[in-house]
Amino acid sequence: MSVARENVLILDFGSQYTQLIARRVRALKVYCEIQPHTLSAAKVRAFAPAAIVLSGGPASVYANGAPDIDQEILDLDVPILGICYGLQLLAERLGGKVRPATSREYGRAAVRKVAGARGPGQALFAAFDAAPFDVWMSHGDQLEALPPGFEVIGATDTTPFAAIAHQERPIFGLQFHPEVAHTPRGDEILAAFLFDVAHLSRSWTMGSFLDRTLEDVRARVAKTDQVICALSGGVDSAVVAALLHRALGDRLHCIFVDNGLLRHGERERVREIFEASRGIPLVVVDATDRFLNELAGVVDPEAKRKIIGAEFIRVFDAEAKRVGGARFLAQGTLYPDVIESTSFKGPSATIKSHHNVGGLPADMKLALIEPLRELFKDEVRLLGAELGLPQSILQRQPFPGPGLAVRVLGAVTHERLETVRRADVVVEEEIRAAGFEARAWQSFAVLLPVRSVGVMGDERTYADTIAVRSVDSVDGMTADWSRLPYDLLARISNRIINEVRGVNRVVYDISSKPPATIEWE
Ligand code: XMP
Repeated sequence: MSVARENVLILDFGSQYTQLIARRVRALKVYCEIQPHTLSAAKVRAFAPAAIVLSGGPASVYANGAPDIDQEILDLDVPILGICYGLQLLAERLGGKVRPATSREYGRAAVRKVAGARGPGQALFAAFDAAPFDVWMSHGDQLEALPPGFEVIGATDTTPFAAIAHQERPIFGLQFHPEVAHTPRGDEILAAFLFDVAHLSRSWTMGSFLDRTLEDVRARVAKTDQVICALSGGVDSAVVAALLHRALGDRLHCIFVDNGLLRHGERERVREIFEASRGIPLVVVDATDRFLNELAGVVDPEAKRKIIGAEFIRVFDAEAKRVGGARFLAQGTLYPDVIESTSFKGPSATIKSHHNVGGLPADMKLALIEPLRELFKDEVRLLGAELGLPQSILQRQPFPGPGLAVRVLGAVTHERLETVRRADVVVEEEIRAAGFEARAWQSFAVLLPVRSVGVMGDERTYADTIAVRSVDSVDGMTADWSRLPYDLLARISNRIINEVRGVNRVVYDISSKPPATIEWE
């Protein structure tokens, strides 16, 4: 955990919205971290938070084994905001009563500010007048009796204690969720808590983060140490490389493994962006034949993935060992991966890390440098922009580690890779030209293991099928197929059939995730 800056601590009680709280706080330019609710008061003191937020959560505070809080935390002289479960826990611990609500309240509600608040509670809704404002409720329990010393500052028709505040101390509770978009004025409430109650400043910017991170990296990596970074062509590793290059100059060694499973022109693009235009030394390893030999005749998707992962490690390991004095390995681990691994629900077995690099051999004995581990994806993009990376890199669609091997269904050969690559170029070009590239989460071509009959000129053909996949998604966890205009689909289909040899049929994938996945393998 970091100290010596303005920190907000978010204690997680398991709400699906906890990450959203963090994102909202950071969007207000205040640094915050999510920690499990089991954090001891001593650790909280060491963290020196300027404010504490207690998240929501699915449990009932009166149930056996319900997530609890170290009671001493409530005695610290730090402003506290409890949200939903957080409110109920605060109230219960401070002498109030929580009971099951007569009916579970889920959805929009209108809160009225209760006039006449005497304590610090006035600050939270200071900008609001008497008109009711929309909020998002999602709770099965509600407060039945206020804890001593508290007053009501907001109510709905069915929830008399929708917002409460201590009359003297800066302790607040909201039954609704200010962090979700369905509470349109939620940001104002959070801002009032952070700025008017906790007196924080809007000092968390990507510029300040960059300065601090550069200092940290320079302090950690000795002048004689070398750092290795695997570039994938994606956003995260690109930002890590640009940042470390700025901090360390040519003590950073970037390795780009061309496994022969990349999209058209990818290798040249990465070389252009890093070596040619930014002077970042780059070792490009052409390992196409090695990968394709290992993949020969393999059709099972999981077998393909394992082979590619293992081969990547062998190639990367060999290259890394050539860098004398290498002590560190840089990875683009992001904050959601860190949260996943520290969640109170138990450390997750697989911490997502840079694709394929997670399993590097133990004998490499490299310490990890993870400069993005405090950031969300959108913050990584802002940091990349701060470092001067082009939008063409920062707005890139995700690309799977196993590459086109999972988009060539069935056996992976040079020829079939070339077919999917050429079709993919058409999809990419047409979707970009129509302005859909930034809107879609991913759009790409898949080569199916299906041949069908067609007619070209006067000739009967019996040729391959390309499936076009384009999905809209927020995080890749769920996705819906993009409602692309028919004209655009028609152009894509015509061009693929005319320009890509060996393809006589194009289909559009109209399945959402779940139950389908984004990739076909
Ligand atoms: P699925 O196909 O599971 O994909 O819906 C969700 C997201 O993850 C990407 N993906 C991968 N990324 N290694 C990766 O680095 C993989 O093995 C892999 N498989 C899928 C996929 O492109 C989508 O964005």
